Amino acid sequence: MTPDTLPPRKNIIVLVSGGGTNLQALIDAQERGELGCGRITCVISSRPDAFALVRAKNAGIPTRVLRRKDFPDTEQYSTAMLEAFYEEYADLIVQAGFMTILDEKVCRAYPNKIINVHPALIPSFCGKGFYGLHVHEAALKKGVKVTGATVHFVTEVCDGGPIILQKAVNVEQGDTPETLQKRVMEQAEWHILPEAVRLFCEDKLTVKDDIVTIAE
Ligand code: GAR
Repeated sequence: MTPDTLPPRKNIIVLVSGGGTNLQALIDAQERGELGCGRITCVISSRPDAFALVRAKNAGIPTRVLRRKDFPDTEQYSTAMLEAFYEEYADLIVQAGFMTILDEKVCRAYPNKIINVHPALIPSFCGKGFYGLHVHEAALKKGVKVTGATVHFVTEVCDGGPIILQKAVNVEQGDTPETLQKRVMEQAEWHILPEAVRLFCEDKLTVKDDIVTIAE
């Protein structure tokens, strides 16, 4: 391929709220050349103290902070978020441990262009109130023997959008929410999130009737 026939770069905006290990998995995949024509061009955090911001700065990626409490309601917070996406020329938005609710106009402005990683096998342990360690607490309380992670497109329905990739992880006797969270991240999230981003950036994902087909 000559430079003028290379596929155009896709700008990836990553939304974070916490430790940012999934962001790190994306940064590492990008450095290994595994995101196709995708480039992480901005990281937006809902918290100024999120360690994810340090990870972004260490990788030389521009950052922004948009705190929900600086806006009177979800509607105005979502409007500010949308403005940031437009200013950054976003092609793909990745929610990587982003814990703040955005309203439906954000999903409608970017249909099948926002993806989220969830630490369970959707439709189990998902929806309102299921985030972070709470998801693993619920899985252990139910006594499931297999859990995992899901990457899906974001729609108005919380954790209800079309599923892109899933990976199962065994629950082990004596697991705590913390040990299970670590295994789900290591064995599932950090692999399927960069893989889904690559597939998106290589235009390999098609959505029809809420079902994702992968072209490879
Ligand atoms: C991850 O386990 C992610 O799947 C989860 O929060 C953690 C963030 O970790 N996200 C949700 O629960 C969203 N519903 P990280 O900041 O180290 O990537």
